[in-house]
Amino acid sequence: MKAVRIHRYGPREELVFEDAPLPVLAPDEVLIQVVGASVNPVDWMIRQGKLKEVLAHAMPLTLGWDVSGVVSAAGNLVTRYSIGDSVYSRPDIARNGTYAEYVAVRAAEVAPKPATISHIEAASLPLAGITAWQALVDVCKLKTGQRVLVHAAAGGVGSLAVQIARARGAYVIGTASAANRHFVLSLGANEFVDYRTQTLESAIQEPVDAVLDTVGGEAQEASFPLLKAGGVLVSIVSPPPQELAAKYGVRGEFLMIGPNAEVLEQLAKLADEGKVRPVIGAEFALEDIARAHALSEGRHTRGKIVLYVGPPRGRPV
Ligand SMILES: NC(=O)c1ccc[n+]([C@@H]2O[C@H](COP(=O)([O-])OP(=O)(O)OC[C@H]3O[C@@H](n4cnc5c(N)ncnc54)[C@H](OP(=O)(O)O)[C@@H]3O)[C@@H](O)[C@H]2O)c1
Repeated sequence: MKAVRIHRYGPREELVFEDAPLPVLAPDEVLIQVVGASVNPVDWMIRQGKLKEVLAHAMPLTLGWDVSGVVSAAGNLVTRYSIGDSVYSRPDIARNGTYAEYVAVRAAEVAPKPATISHIEAASLPLAGITAWQALVDVCKLKTGQRVLVHAAAGGVGSLAVQIARARGAYVIGTASAANRHFVLSLGANEFVDYRTQTLESAIQEPVDAVLDTVGGEAQEASFPLLKAGGVLVSIVSPPPQELAAKYGVRGEFLMIGPNAEVLEQLAKLADEGKVRPVIGAEFALEDIARAHALSEGRHTRGKIVLYVGPPRGRPV
């Protein structure tokens, strides 16, 4: 099969579109024929070797940990899925990924693909969607009427977080640069803050119940005083200093997500109800992966960058 692999850590030049062996299937796994994959910042962080101390990858390594596709084989312990089923997943990041024509994924990490959207759209949801859902629902326990600040509301995680928060009846304030104002408001945000020209302190008049920090650094620090006592800041970028959390009487949490089929089922429901719409900022063919990484590394993606790997296209149910 064709795959994009790296043989050592390094710059984009290390991404090689080449022949690779078909994955060997374990009894609890499905073999997915990949239709769509997506690019997340963790892909190029791993490529650059930034996570090599915490994730011991064998080389060569196939990158990419989002997939939507069709089951082409199933191990003999797999009861839920059959050949021909359309599924999607954020598979285990310790293993070979989805920049490939086929990927083997544990059946427990897979969910049925949302029926009303295409594979390309479905491939944009798993990693960013699980992150947004777990941050807002599992960590913040966001409720109807609560106020939430979503940093980088135009990005992969943020664009889904805004929609998930609105679907749960929250009041959403999203940050981005001016060019993304209409986009962020069109996702359902109630207020917009331009992080380049406004300070959070001056822009946000009433305190918030929750903050989703997707940026870290100054944005994280400046968010603490905005929280109500008892509120929660959840960061997906860097562990919040506990002394700051204590100073403001709030919780400061760090979230690192993993595969989560239950959340994928919730996301599929929201997608099929039209409450969450995938946002495809750019689409590339698998062999154009270096351009896709360059775009992601620029840190100004709108929505998600997806990769088209192979047929079928369209909106199969
Ligand atoms: N812990 C975990 O499990 C986990 C999971 C997923 C992601 N992450 C991390 O979370 C971060 C966000 O991921 P992502 O996929 O959403 O990234 P992304 O899609 O690449 O984010 C791009 C967006 O960031 C916005 N942005 C850049 N600087 C900003 C700032 N200072 N304030 C507000 N918005 C800003 C850009 O908006 P403008 O163009 O308008 O500037 C752009 O829309 C990454 O560092 C990623 O590695 C962690």
